[in-house]
Amino acid sequence: MDLREREFPWAARGDAIYLNNASTGPLPVRTVGAQASFTALRAEPFRMSDELQFGTISHSRNLVARLIGASPDEIALMVNTTYGINVAARALPLGRGDTVLTFDREFPANIYPWMALAPIGVTLERIPCRDGLADEEALLLALDKPGVKAVTVSWVSFATGYRVDLARIGRACRERGIYFIVDAMQGLGALTLDVRECFVDVLACGGQKWLLSPWGTGFVYVRSELVTALEPSSVGWLAMRGSEDFTRLVDYDFTYWDDARRFEVITLPFQDFAGLNASLELLLELGPKRVEAHVAGLVDMAVEWSRNRAAVKLVTPAEPERRAGIVALAPSDPRVASEKLKRARISHSLREGAIRLSPHCYNTDAEMEEALEVLGRE
Ligand SMILES: Cc1ncc(COP(=O)(O)O)c(C=O)c1O
Repeated sequence: MDLREREFPWAARGDAIYLNNASTGPLPVRTVGAQASFTALRAEPFRMSDELQFGTISHSRNLVARLIGASPDEIALMVNTTYGINVAARALPLGRGDTVLTFDREFPANIYPWMALAPIGVTLERIPCRDGLADEEALLLALDKPGVKAVTVSWVSFATGYRVDLARIGRACRERGIYFIVDAMQGLGALTLDVRECFVDVLACGGQKWLLSPWGTGFVYVRSELVTALEPSSVGWLAMRGSEDFTRLVDYDFTYWDDARRFEVITLPFQDFAGLNASLELLLELGPKRVEAHVAGLVDMAVEWSRNRAAVKLVTPAEPERRAGIVALAPSDPRVASEKLKRARISHSLREGAIRLSPHCYNTDAEMEEALEVLGRE
């Protein structure tokens, strides 16, 4: 693939087989270039303009919106996923006696911000897993318990790769007037998404994994009908309408933007958002559906391979609609297996007793075959 040589030359050279996108996505060449050019201007700030700075983040909101089927007015830029989850936890009208439902074994970014609401009387209830995976049936049944006000889930589990049926849970929540919050970090980029079709109220996502973007980039989507109903808990100076006029900043007009910018806490790392823009443009150019199909094909290979091996347990569900870009395989001794992979320069993760492989658009079938061959060696 020409893309590999151009954007991921280390992969084309064979410096490593990188199957660890669920930890950190590599930066495409164009992204590194965009960050560097922006930083070069910043080094000589008289070359920088307000238009360039604010035009860059405005472009980020547009690109993110395109990717998830939202309007740019519903996007607030954030520096990571956790910050976006905190926006939901702190801005939604939750109080004494309310329950937030989630799955057990969620990534902690989607647990602690909710646990932190205990002092105001909000309970986080974790639905136990079934066979180690998110139990959607049990969550759906729990929606009708008294006091349930919100549901918050990872779209894709960081450890098992299980993909939640967002549309099904989102619809059930909307029918009951329950808020639906999604941590999209392990899904978006490997999968495609339309937030409206999935009835999402708030969605948080960092850029550093499947969006192949710099650390310090991310966003939160807030459904338009909720934007003006919610007040941010952390109040940014540019969250106010009047702050646009930099010549009159001390007029102090406490009037929030009536779009999602009210949730932003600026100043943001502009150079990194320039990088995010380059990466999102690449994904949009490749076609998110094509990327999804490519990733699914690579994950399929690992799933098929595991079928004939008694010694390796497939942790990830076998059904294609239940997985994304993560495949978790549990050999009899995961640590030994991890060492073998490391020796073969195959980047992966060891998570919750399983080897986690997470390929993206830059990986080839041959790379996945090699990783599986090494894993299968006695
Ligand atoms: C599901 C999930 N959410 C969030 C994060 C990270 O959150 P943040 O962007 O705040 O570091 C990770 C992984 O690091 C993750 O797997």
